[in-house]
Amino acid sequence: MCGIVGAVSTRNIVPVLIEGLKRLEYRGYDSCGVAVHQHGQLRRARSTARVAELEANVAADEIAGTTGIAHTRWATHGAPVVNNAHPHFSAGPHAPGADAVGRVAVVHNGIIENHDELRAELQAAGYRFVTQTDSEVIAHLVDHHYRGDLYAAVQQLLPRLRGTYAIAVFCLDEPHRVVGAREGSPLILGIGAGERAGDHYLASDAMALSGVTDQIVYLEEGDVVDLQLGHSAIGSRTDAATGKPRADGRFAAVQRPVRTVQAHTEAAELGPYRHHMQKEIFEQPKAIADTLDAVGGVEPSLFGEAAAAAFGQVDSVLILACGTSYYAGLVAKQWLESIAKMPTAVEVASEYRYRDSVPHPRTLVVTITQSGETADTLAALKHARSLGMAHTLTVCNVATSAMVRECAMAFITRAGVEIGVASTKAFTTQLVGLFLLTLALAKSRGQLGAEAEAQHLHALRHLPVAVQGVLALEPQVIAWAEVFARKENALFLGRGAHYPIALEGALKLKEISYIHAEAYPAGELKHGPLALVTAEMPVVTVAPNDALLEKLKSNLQEVRARGGELFVFADADTRIESGEGLHVIRMPENYGALSPLLHVVPLQLLAYHTACARGTDVDKPRNLAKSVTVE
Ligand code: M6R
Repeated sequence: MCGIVGAVSTRNIVPVLIEGLKRLEYRGYDSCGVAVHQHGQLRRARSTARVAELEANVAADEIAGTTGIAHTRWATHGAPVVNNAHPHFSAGPHAPGADAVGRVAVVHNGIIENHDELRAELQAAGYRFVTQTDSEVIAHLVDHHYRGDLYAAVQQLLPRLRGTYAIAVFCLDEPHRVVGAREGSPLILGIGAGERAGDHYLASDAMALSGVTDQIVYLEEGDVVDLQLGHSAIGSRTDAATGKPRADGRFAAVQRPVRTVQAHTEAAELGPYRHHMQKEIFEQPKAIADTLDAVGGVEPSLFGEAAAAAFGQVDSVLILACGTSYYAGLVAKQWLESIAKMPTAVEVASEYRYRDSVPHPRTLVVTITQSGETADTLAALKHARSLGMAHTLTVCNVATSAMVRECAMAFITRAGVEIGVASTKAFTTQLVGLFLLTLALAKSRGQLGAEAEAQHLHALRHLPVAVQGVLALEPQVIAWAEVFARKENALFLGRGAHYPIALEGALKLKEISYIHAEAYPAGELKHGPLALVTAEMPVVTVAPNDALLEKLKSNLQEVRARGGELFVFADADTRIESGEGLHVIRMPENYGALSPLLHVVPLQLLAYHTACARGTDVDKPRNLAKSVTVE
């Protein structure tokens, strides 16, 4: 959730650190900070405002140096105040002004679960704590273990940490060295080339180093990395034979492949759009087309080499995901059961591993995650595997992510980098991947004839054009958003595969506009939520022309009869007309099984324009972060 950048260079590294932070700001933005080695001291600047303000502070304080680390934070332990912002310093035991004069500086992404115990131990050894964070223990532990070799000190302390981390550390006594380590949180090593030959960089994401280097090493779980001028080394605690940390705690030198990575910097540019979310909503036709680009037909090979055998062995599906990705899973359940006739369960990942469930070895475990880093989903996957379910597949937007490495099979969506915290194009491309999975499983099970396959593929290929048509409804949605911006509550209704779309519409609205919104299957209204309906409660309804339309119309009457005001996204062929208290935006004609992909688009636009009208920070809504790498 936090973002890390670090560097060892022959030139002033502050501009690279600041630019890297700007690119990582989407990961967390409660506070940010930078520290460098300068004139024989560790100097630091921190801010609870955005990176642009940090940049101004750094310039005003003339902070510059060739070795440094930087961080953008999503607060877990300790309020988002300057004092808790990273980098954290240790000034050694019995130091009077521990936070002012640093001997060691640390940035950390993740959670140190045993920080209380370590804090007590370090306090007993004379270390003074000045923050409420769990991360500060790492700075003092480095100092405690330091005997003139930072790489050795970090290797010694890592077995003491329980939890998840990516860290970058540097110290006063070794002015041209940064050490990093990861366990459960991503970290990459960047190797300078050309005029930057000899430089070494660390970052949470290759995008942070775009324009600096494209030579990237993806560090693996349990790796520790030593960055010096003209030299880098990686040590691993993982025993290659067992896949587990070595019992003796030793790190062995390892080689990791260097890849040439073209990070998508254009993702960071807004172009004609006001926000990344708006840009990403409008990128959906292209994201869907790109995701379908390599799809010739419906074959198991779309999901990797293992899929042909696995698809013949499974007879049920278990979907694990969080948030918007979970709602994609709920839509997929409808497809998998109706088209592929596969019994499907969908579980909120953060709940699944903490309850007793009945494992079934012939289950295909499907994780859905745009980032591939979500700690809850990764943990749920590992739990499912520990219960004996070995057929694992992910639908993920990041080919190099932990989730893709963990799963036996993968479908990589081609949404491109999604910067807005509110997920939009990642969701629709996940649905494309899940629909293809449905078709592939249906085909493997003899449930999909050639004609049906051709029709589904035709509809998929036409989707980008169909979504473009829905995007053209934006002016009508803007008019509704003016009304919603003045409300504090909203209800969303849908049925069947469009109930998850109603859930997603409600999540989008609350996430970025801070309006309380709830979604119900429309038939549930009379079992309780109807009591909430008044003229002050707008009721958004997703109304496709499907088998449930007549039932849905009755549900709408129930709302109107209580004076509720309806805002209906109705397929052109539903014959639902605007009237008193009934506002209709006319969608295209019904799009069959893929209709949820069209109906979610105006709900994204409604949330976006309502948030704009309320003046919220659309791309960085309060308290949230883009990838949730802590439990
Ligand atoms: O990266 P993931 O898809 O695993 O993320 C899951 C959720 O955190 C994410 O979908 C979240 O709900 C979005 N911010 C919603 O817009």
